[in-house]
Amino acid sequence: MKIIPQGPIHGAAIERLLDLTFGHDRRNKTVYRLREAAPAVSSLSFVIERDGAVVASLRFWPVTLPNHAQALLLGPLAVLPELSGQGMGRALVRHGMAQAKAEGWPAVLVVGEPSYYEPFGFSRAAAEHLRLPGWVELPRFQAAELIPGALDGVEGPIKPGRPAKPAWTRKAKA
Ligand SMILES: CC(C)(COP(=O)(O)OP(=O)(O)OC[C@H]1O[C@@H](n2cnc3c(N)ncnc32)[C@H](O)[C@@H]1OP(=O)(O)O)[C@@H](O)C(=O)NCCC(=O)NCCS
Repeated sequence: MKIIPQGPIHGAAIERLLDLTFGHDRRNKTVYRLREAAPAVSSLSFVIERDGAVVASLRFWPVTLPNHAQALLLGPLAVLPELSGQGMGRALVRHGMAQAKAEGWPAVLVVGEPSYYEPFGFSRAAAEHLRLPGWVELPRFQAAELIPGALDGVEGPIKPGRPAKPAWTRKAKA
């Protein structure tokens, strides 16, 4: 199984895969409120192909923590139903988390099955003081630190998109 970077040609096939796996009303979910402000992180967008067709996809979106630090929202993760149980989902999560860590992202959030995500370092406890912009089943809302301590004492709402640039990176006015 080969995980490859998502390219421009994969976009439509991924949308079809997501409609199939999550249903056409998937955009009503709270997590989609966090995907509206910015595109997915392109270096963290992966697919698996079989015979030239997309059969699995994972992307991560940038979000902003209450302390104005950046973090990632994992998902959507989807595998073609007839190919489920072959390890593609876990391989994508493993690959994505390793790449996110290598890029220096401090933390990752997910809304998903705890038993699926716990082996990758996600826990409910790490997300306990964070709030999403809408309703979710709370036991499914989890977080993982990629930099130890990144979520220590962090409390409040998660915002979509990357943090605003710190003042010192803006051009000084003449
Ligand atoms: C969930 C999903 C991504 C798993 O992908 P996959 O390639 O079938 O999973 P893997 O082969 O890597 O892992 C299979 C294991 O995950 C478990 N698993 C699969 N879906 C699960 C779920 N929704 N909740 C908990 N465990 C799940 C299987 O029982 C199996 O466990 P086992 O190894 O102990 O037998 C895939 O089934 C899918 O696309 N589902 C629909 C969309 C979805 O729910 N996405 C995840 C949202 S967070």
